[in-house]
Amino acid sequence: NEIKIFSPATVANVACGFDVLGFCLDSVGDDMVIRKTDKKGIYITKIEGFDLPFEAELNVAGVSALAMYEAINPDFGFEIEIYKNIKPGSGIGSSAASAVGSVFGMNELLGRPFNKTQLTEFAVKGEALASKCEHADNLAPAMLGGFTLVKSMQPLEILQIPTPEDLYATIIHPQIEIKTSEARAILPKDVALSNAVTQWANFGSLIHALHTSDFGLIERSLKDVIVEPYRSQLIPHYQDVKKAMLDAGALGAGISGSGPSIFSLSKGSETAVNVKDAIEKVYATTGIDFDIHVTKIN
Ligand code: HSE
Repeated sequence: NEIKIFSPATVANVACGFDVLGFCLDSVGDDMVIRKTDKKGIYITKIEGFDLPFEAELNVAGVSALAMYEAINPDFGFEIEIYKNIKPGSGIGSSAASAVGSVFGMNELLGRPFNKTQLTEFAVKGEALASKCEHADNLAPAMLGGFTLVKSMQPLEILQIPTPEDLYATIIHPQIEIKTSEARAILPKDVALSNAVTQWANFGSLIHALHTSDFGLIERSLKDVIVEPYRSQLIPHYQDVKKAMLDAGALGAGISGSGPSIFSLSKGSETAVNVKDAIEKVYATTGIDFDIHVTKIN
């Protein structure tokens, strides 16, 4: 009647795939406990790590749980404990981890009545509370692992994209908060056709490269000509970090989700660690606290 789960952090956008592409960070994430109770309803009984609302309707994990709960309307309820390691506003899918964790755990306790796409649909409701719009590019990789592509939101269609062997991510999280809703508000409503052409050429090439384990093509495709010019201005020392990542041998780098985290992809763990050492040097002189994760992508 109780399940303990690990709900992973994720990197959304992955440079050229704004709002559709994402990948899972297997070794970074939140822990959650979901428990069946006699009392009907959804109750958040414990939150550790960060100060977040206990009212289910105001909590991302609670809202997605309520969406699923209302769909089944059982004669019992659920308690949710959240042990948060992913800082809200860090750009590595904090809200998505919470939104996915509650519905994934409930589904396990119920004997898996829903598939992962249906669970993600419930989680979209929770994610929307945090970012003020419905997007699933963090939710899908948190739910399915690896790389995922959100083909459409209505109806929700998610594609699992293969991960080449030996692909690693190095991610730096400067300890400043950028709200996704604010990072979305600064984006232009329209894009120039020439930029759109560049972006979808890179995006299609990146997907092809992931399928064919073509690291050279990954390197040539990890570029963002649409969103990065706006959002990079919100992130202190963004260009220095990106340059250090590329100089240290990363295949490419960009803003993780809506920032402030910055991600890079590398071939092999040795390069990923070299990238870590290089960006540590850049940020050590800034006076801004930060943490860095190196993780294999599975
Ligand atoms: N695709 C979303 C955005 C991800 O960039 O606004 C937010 O984490």
